[in-house]
Amino acid sequence: MQSQLDDLFSFLRFPSISTDSKHAGDVLACGQWLQEKLTGMGLEAKLHETPGHPVVVAKNAHQEGRKTVLIYGHYDVQPVDPLELWDTPPFEPVLKDGRIWARGATDNKGQMMAHVLGVEKTLKEHGELPVNLIFLFEGEEEIGSPSLVPFIEANKEMLACDVIAVSDTGMVARGVPTMGYGLRGITCCEVTVRGPKGDLHSGIYGGAVANPATAVARLVASLHDDEGNIAIEGFYDDVKPLENWEREMWAQVPGMSDQDMMEQTGAPAVFGEPGYSSAERLWARPTAEVNGIGGGYQGEGSKTVLPAQAMVKFSFRLVPDQDPKDISKKVQAHLEKHAPAGVRVEVEVGHDGKPYYSDPHSAFGKAGQIALEKAFGKQPVLIREGGSIPIIKDMQDILGADSLLLGLALPDCQIHAPNENFWVENFEGGIAMNAILLQELAKV
Ligand code: BES
Ligand code: ZN
Repeated sequence: MQSQLDDLFSFLRFPSISTDSKHAGDVLACGQWLQEKLTGMGLEAKLHETPGHPVVVAKNAHQEGRKTVLIYGHYDVQPVDPLELWDTPPFEPVLKDGRIWARGATDNKGQMMAHVLGVEKTLKEHGELPVNLIFLFEGEEEIGSPSLVPFIEANKEMLACDVIAVSDTGMVARGVPTMGYGLRGITCCEVTVRGPKGDLHSGIYGGAVANPATAVARLVASLHDDEGNIAIEGFYDDVKPLENWEREMWAQVPGMSDQDMMEQTGAPAVFGEPGYSSAERLWARPTAEVNGIGGGYQGEGSKTVLPAQAMVKFSFRLVPDQDPKDISKKVQAHLEKHAPAGVRVEVEVGHDGKPYYSDPHSAFGKAGQIALEKAFGKQPVLIREGGSIPIIKDMQDILGADSLLLGLALPDCQIHAPNENFWVENFEGGIAMNAILLQELAKV
């Protein structure tokens, strides 16, 4: 285990923050380290330049007649701020209380490294793998994978596969192996509301000139009705209704009760669309969220100003069969229609990704479940995910292969937040699972 932890720690020391151009060199260095690691294991590994951050692809020697398994992961990470809330520096990994603490520990370096080291172990012990393997690792997942779709389109033959395995999602509770068969999609936008040409004295002009911050608040409020349903025209048109078998199955999934939700989040109550449980709201229903909002005076005390502008950043989580481009249009139409009088509303559309759905009871799905059961000693639960990995649907469309979402992220892993951490037991479990998974997939 020590050498495996050493490898993971080396990987975690790269501040491979994809969104921040100052870190482009670190993302590249991290990709190069990965390529060297994979080459050292005896795989043919290549770092492919893209217009953005590099893609790393590695393969064993493929043999005719065997299953081809693609394992996807991402080596880029989220920014670390607010830095002062970290107990230890984010890029100096430490092992404490059975967990590895560092940015990327779970999302996604720890989870993807479990697969890399699982393959390394099998190669050391048996000299070969039971399948044709393709590792596909990107450095742009956290910014919406702009270079990966064209890369996959251009390299369809190199990436042709029967099935895809991904550990970049959640495990509902400790010791409860979890297989995901769906992901929510996403579409993002930023709205700027402009009023007067500059900040105004709110006594001299307030009441006679519209306030952009008030206008932003009205737009935000217009997105939901009083019950919590999204009020954008046509928003729910293409939502695939929940199936009864899913509702029944999810009602049994541990870690999803109202009490669990309140404990995990610290929120004083659960909240959401009427008629649905938390699991259903998270895994099968779309949302409209404010990710950031601002405008006007934010300093100490009061300042009587009527701000010249205000802004809000929205994201919408989508479910099958909603289309992000269609939803984005409906959102823009809604914002135009609800633009308050006396201001100008500008909408800048951001990145998006399609929702994903597959059959968990397919032959490959069953193999994934067996691997989880054997590695973690318990029958896995089957869930959809609230988060998004847009490339998974793109790979289904371009490569024609479904993804098994073999999540190792626990609810308290703090991904995207300070003090991100990864349980060593899940790192070890993931390494063990990889070997079993490849054997099980070879048998399908
Ligand atoms: N690993 C996460 C996605 C995830 C986490 C799925 C937990 C399910 C459970 C991934 O790195 C991520 O953060 N995705 C972004 C996508 C976006 C930037 C396009 C997300 O979901 O916000
Ligand atoms: Zn992430």
